Amino acid sequence: MKNIVIIATGGTIAGSGKIGKATNYQAGKIDIKEIIDSIPMINEIANLTAIQLFNIDSNEMNEQYWLCLTKKINDLANQDNIDGFVVTHGTDTLDETAYFLNLTVCTYKPVVLTGAMRPASATSADGPMNLYQAVCLASSDEALGHGVMALFSSTIYSGRDIQKVSNFRIDAFDQNHFGCLGYMYDDKVQMFSRTFKKHTILSMFSESLPAELPSVGIVYYYAGANVQLLTMMAKIHQGIVIIGSGSGNYSKLWLEEIQRLSNEGIIFVRASRVNQGIVYESSIFDPLNICIPSNTLSGQKARVLLMLALSKTTNINEIKKIFDEY
Ligand code: SIN
Repeated sequence: MKNIVIIATGGTIAGSGKIGKATNYQAGKIDIKEIIDSIPMINEIANLTAIQLFNIDSNEMNEQYWLCLTKKINDLANQDNIDGFVVTHGTDTLDETAYFLNLTVCTYKPVVLTGAMRPASATSADGPMNLYQAVCLASSDEALGHGVMALFSSTIYSGRDIQKVSNFRIDAFDQNHFGCLGYMYDDKVQMFSRTFKKHTILSMFSESLPAELPSVGIVYYYAGANVQLLTMMAKIHQGIVIIGSGSGNYSKLWLEEIQRLSNEGIIFVRASRVNQGIVYESSIFDPLNICIPSNTLSGQKARVLLMLALSKTTNINEIKKIFDEY
């Protein structure tokens, strides 16, 4: 049997509320050992070690927690007797953590995130099945080389592309146009596709971790959005991701302010509030070529990549190349 480490960080999978109810509960309450004990047969899949690294609602997740989580996985991955990892996590910011780990974890061993939409105390909680299948996936040879993945509702997603698309259904995740990496059939893994973007051992960010990450903020554009939103954000951030309309667009007033702030050294990324498609370079919305297009990354994932990129370089052309490759 393979040796799998489950690293628990909290979330609804460890949530507790009124017995039987699926709403109005507290995330990050139940110990991972209690959850494992509630899952029949899980110990027949792999030898499990459980580490309760944090027990938080994932809305409390931040850059320091991310760095700590990556460090923990990288330290353990060096041990020959560990074959893979499962990370339990709240669903609200799981997409961001999955992408951060995908870029910073330095191992070919499987790393699978999972969680739940219903707390452990609900009728028909979804967490136990998700955790069971995440352990099956992390134990499988088919999971090797896919980078960090996530497992929800018997579906395998890539850490780069996973997005939360429902704040209500238990089938709450998707990869938009990119489908999924594979399916689970009970404990069996069926992989269908593979990401072409760089990750884990091929990622330049997994070579060494910064002690802290540069500060990057996100500004959302909407019809009539006040240009001072950018001015104020620039006071406390080194980089700004704009979630623009359409293909990363905004008004002429915003364009002027972006050009002014960029002269002062602020680095901008153009993402989109439309969650399907791609943001390319634009001679209309970025005539001076000073904004980095987010490619297919959501605003929050573009922020993760910009923080890591700024920890290596402030050269816009180099950062553009990073956004194409990752
Ligand atoms: C959280 O993200 O920690 C709470 C919500 C969830 O896990 O579904």
